[in-house]
Amino acid sequence: MSLDIVILAAGQGTRMRSALPKVLHPIAGQSMLAHVIDRARQLSPVGIHVVIGHGADLVRERLAADDLNFVLQNEQLGTGHAVAQALPALTAERVLILYGDVPLIETATLERLLERVGAEQLALLTVDLIDPTGYGRIVRDAAGVVKAIVEHKDATPEQRQICEGNTGILAVPGKRLGDWLARLSNSNAQGEYYLTDVIAMAVADGLVVATEQPLDAMEVQGANDRLQLAELERHYQQRAARSLMAQGVTLRDPARFDLRGEATVGRDVLIDINVILEGRVVIEDGVQIGPNCVIKDSTLRKGALVKANSHLDGAELGEGADCGPFARLRPGSVLGAKAHVGNFVELKNAVLGEGAKAGHLSYLGDAEIGARSNIGAGTITCNYDGANKFKTVLGEDVFIGSNSALVAPVTLGDGATTGAGSVITADIPAGTLAVGRAKQRNIDAWKRPVKINK
Ligand code: UD1
Ligand code: CA
Repeated sequence: MSLDIVILAAGQGTRMRSALPKVLHPIAGQSMLAHVIDRARQLSPVGIHVVIGHGADLVRERLAADDLNFVLQNEQLGTGHAVAQALPALTAERVLILYGDVPLIETATLERLLERVGAEQLALLTVDLIDPTGYGRIVRDAAGVVKAIVEHKDATPEQRQICEGNTGILAVPGKRLGDWLARLSNSNAQGEYYLTDVIAMAVADGLVVATEQPLDAMEVQGANDRLQLAELERHYQQRAARSLMAQGVTLRDPARFDLRGEATVGRDVLIDINVILEGRVVIEDGVQIGPNCVIKDSTLRKGALVKANSHLDGAELGEGADCGPFARLRPGSVLGAKAHVGNFVELKNAVLGEGAKAGHLSYLGDAEIGARSNIGAGTITCNYDGANKFKTVLGEDVFIGSNSALVAPVTLGDGATTGAGSVITADIPAGTLAVGRAKQRNIDAWKRPVKINK
């Protein structure tokens, strides 16, 4: 059966006290709405319709994608009114309603819900709550059959005793939806067109209302303020940490680990405290990551070692390679197998061959460095003349004396050597020593200046 998904995301989110529309606030580095859209895509619907209102332009701009149909709800007249705005675009046999501010919903839960919806049956996701204040209540008859949803503000004192709450997530037969929405009225405590009134209409039309519950109540928790946002973030991170541990990763402290993207991990990986993984990170078997590292869009091959306080972005560490402490590997940094980058070394678009080393205090940009070459402390590539960037190419087994400046474009042949403190402006042939510095003069019996008394 075909499926349309409508995501409600027009609300303001007053309690966030923010210039940013509520659904754009992030969980794990990605907006809440983006999380919901991800889940929607996993269900392979024929259409994803996002109802926007507050901050509509920004929401559309941030999330634009070919498979999304943004629908504007000019005035927020209620959840029923919101779904009605998407109605002209709905074609599928089933319609699933999601909320843009309920980001942790699991695909498996939605799949269970969708198994229960049919031409003559609605499927409602409900949750048992200790404190259901504010939620719509699920009204059942003596036999336990669902009859209606009554909003908290419209509920009688007896109905307020009901602890089964409406999550807001529901699936309905597409054919019927238009008729029900057209019949909604706003004569209720909030003067809104309630989507929840559809339930009683369906029951009156002889349909069955099936219910499902999430495995974990946090799946259906919305974020109305920054405290709830933080709680959802923690929950997400706990879930991510548990999943990595189940795959063979030791987290020194699962409470001090953050995943803001996707990590593919091997076995026997060790991650020390305060590590942030962002974007797409691939970590192979036996990798160790020290404390306080930020690793984004990078690949760490087998047995690689990232020492404390290193920042990697768009980098690759070969098998057994190591970097840090305090290494900064910017996009295009590639360390071959067993290559080594030490403290206070910055790499950008630089490829180090197998076993190459840059131990201390260097900047290597737009560089190719051959296998086993050694870069002395303080060496920099002068890759930028203020207008254009140029490349530095080193062959294999090159030895760069400390504090050399390699002025690009420049090529050093295999086995070339530079004297410490050299400014290298011309190519060096293979096996040659280049000394590019003023010759030392010694001045005999030198008299130091003497302090003048005033
Ligand atoms: C809604 C449900 C309630 C349920 C609760 C769960 C209704 C009438 N009530 O109540 O039964 O227990 O969610 O959290 O549906 N939105 C729009 N346009 C609108 C109104 C709302 O896009 O005109 C969006 C909001 O941005 C939000 C969602 O719909 O993402 C829910 O709206 P909200 O006003 O929070 O509904 P509740 O009153 O909490
Ligand atoms: Ca709400």
